[in-house]
Amino acid sequence: MTNAIEGKTIFVTGGAGFIASRLIAGLVEENKVVIYDNFDRDTLSSTSHSGHANLTVIRGDVLDCERLEDGMRGADIVVHAAAIAGIDTVIKSPTRTMRVNMIGTANVLEAARLAGVKDRVVDFSTSEVFGSMAFKPTEDRDTVAGSAGEARWTYAVSKLAGEHLSHAYYREFGLPVVSVRPFNVYGPGQTGEGAIQVFIKHALRNEDLHIYGEGDQIRAWCYVDDFIDGLTRCLVNPAAVGESFNIGNSRAVQTTYGLAQTVCRILKSDSKIVFRPPLSDSLPAKYSCVRTTGEPGGMFCSSTVTAPSAPTCSTMAEWCGRPSRRSSVRAMRTT
Ligand SMILES: NC(=O)c1ccc[n+]([C@@H]2O[C@H](COP(=O)([O-])OP(=O)(O)OC[C@H]3O[C@@H](n4cnc5c(N)ncnc54)[C@H](O)[C@@H]3O)[C@@H](O)[C@H]2O)c1
Repeated sequence: MTNAIEGKTIFVTGGAGFIASRLIAGLVEENKVVIYDNFDRDTLSSTSHSGHANLTVIRGDVLDCERLEDGMRGADIVVHAAAIAGIDTVIKSPTRTMRVNMIGTANVLEAARLAGVKDRVVDFSTSEVFGSMAFKPTEDRDTVAGSAGEARWTYAVSKLAGEHLSHAYYREFGLPVVSVRPFNVYGPGQTGEGAIQVFIKHALRNEDLHIYGEGDQIRAWCYVDDFIDGLTRCLVNPAAVGESFNIGNSRAVQTTYGLAQTVCRILKSDSKIVFRPPLSDSLPAKYSCVRTTGEPGGMFCSSTVTAPSAPTCSTMAEWCGRPSRRSSVRAMRTT
């Protein structure tokens, strides 16, 4: 799908991160890509496109307006994926979370306006704008703010503010903005706090798998390539401009405890599952509806976590440090 975009200059904040790296991998052959990232996290250095001739890397912070504006000159498309994410990080740095996610997004939108970006500006929001019970929410469902001071809602509100601002730039200045709300994206290249890769890394070393809360939280897991498919439709379909899209995979639903058990079983791990007190307000349920491929945010869901294909399981485990052992790879199929 990314091959529908060619000959463009694409400026990607957070371009060294997990999701953006996967997007860039599909764009870099046919486009000029500028990564703008402060390298708090770094998936880029483990990718095959690191050092590609079509890639420029700017080490910069989204809080640095001047550097952003300089770097963005000449861009046709802006993808704003830089953010502070992950509950552990948000608890440690709530002020930085609010500043980077709100003020950083404001800086990116203003820089895009000044640069006259014509094709698209994509803002990354989050499924957490729907609060603690996000059961197949459609895009027009009310967003909620949660209680002030709870880390979980600090992150959600910072993203929601960015989303409101994105829509404001579209309405007031005609900036061609789209907001995307990822629902639990996983895949090779993920660092940070995503449960699947954390569980796999621990299981491969037979270390305890920690579950925060009762383990009965329900999540739908979206494989990164499926997410990129939906995201790319938002980049190419003119009907996406001025809208927000929930992008996830409601067919891959698991409780957190079920996920930990599945990972241990598939990897034949001796890890114990250990329950810990919740870190912040819990989100009992979070999964999106699936759109059809014709719609701007729609995608074809090729893999799931309750029933992922063998290649998906194998790729994840190998990326997380297991030596390649094709013969030992079993399908995680449970249905
Ligand atoms: N992965 C998911 O399931 C998920 C779910 C909901 C929302 N999101 C959003 O999607 C986007 C990408 O997520 P990801 O999983 O790839 O995360 P990631 O942490 O891998 O990528 C974020 C990147 O932003 C960079 N960054 C952080 N602060 C910065 C700053 N001040 N200036 C410049 N760069 C900075 C980091 O170095 C990192 O490379 C984020 O906006 C995140 O909030 C992701």
